[in-house]
Amino acid sequence: MTKLPSQALHEFLRSRRSVREFQPRPVPDEVLERILDTGIYAPSAHNLQPWRIVLLRKPEVKRKLAFALTERMRRDMAAEGADKEAIEARVARSIRRMDEAPVALLLNRDVDVVRRDAPPEHTMAVQSVAAFALQLMLAAHAEGLGSVWVCWPLYAQAETRAALALPASWEPQGMLFIGYPAESPVPPPRLPRNAVVWEVGE
Ligand SMILES: Cc1cc2nc3c(=O)[nH]c(=O)nc-3n(C[C@H](O)[C@H](O)[C@H](O)COP(=O)(O)O)c2cc1C
Repeated sequence: MTKLPSQALHEFLRSRRSVREFQPRPVPDEVLERILDTGIYAPSAHNLQPWRIVLLRKPEVKRKLAFALTERMRRDMAAEGADKEAIEARVARSIRRMDEAPVALLLNRDVDVVRRDAPPEHTMAVQSVAAFALQLMLAAHAEGLGSVWVCWPLYAQAETRAALALPASWEPQGMLFIGYPAESPVPPPRLPRNAVVWEVGE
């Protein structure tokens, strides 16, 4: 039986996985450009498109950011009482992950891009960056690429800004690693629909 196009699309959406191991194969420029061009069709509050991204591909630039992020990671883990061995293992793993990701996209929001300087407007801008990130991940998936969202820059906003000399209004939110997958992760469990949907009036 042939599948309806909508069924195939649902399967496609459900089959995206967070990929954490990549092949060393580079991502061609035209593929990356298509992903970025699709990313910008994401929805955003008031259509303000507050997302700003930094493309990181050069090994020395990724290293620079990795060192800045892991320096902060070291301090935070030490403050939480982690032992030295655990800290160094985590730092080494993080640096390796960044080294091995063919493409890293630093996700920022421009804090100056809000309609009014009010807390809900700032929250909507952060939500808009998240919508943009998912759109990029799905566009990467459409190209047969894997991706994962990492939160590290959110814990080291000042260090990230300084390492990359970002404009003052760019607030780091997270980072995507993108590349050809070197693993096929098992889908992590999902809550069933009835655990997350509550219909009022039933
Ligand atoms: C906001 C956000 C932050 C995340 N941070 C990390 C992270 O720091 N490191 C990591 O390996 N995965 C991170 N993930 C990926 C999640 O662990 C992953 O999406 C989740 O386990 C579900 O798996 P799936 O994406 O394969 O469906 C993050 C995802 C989101 C949406």
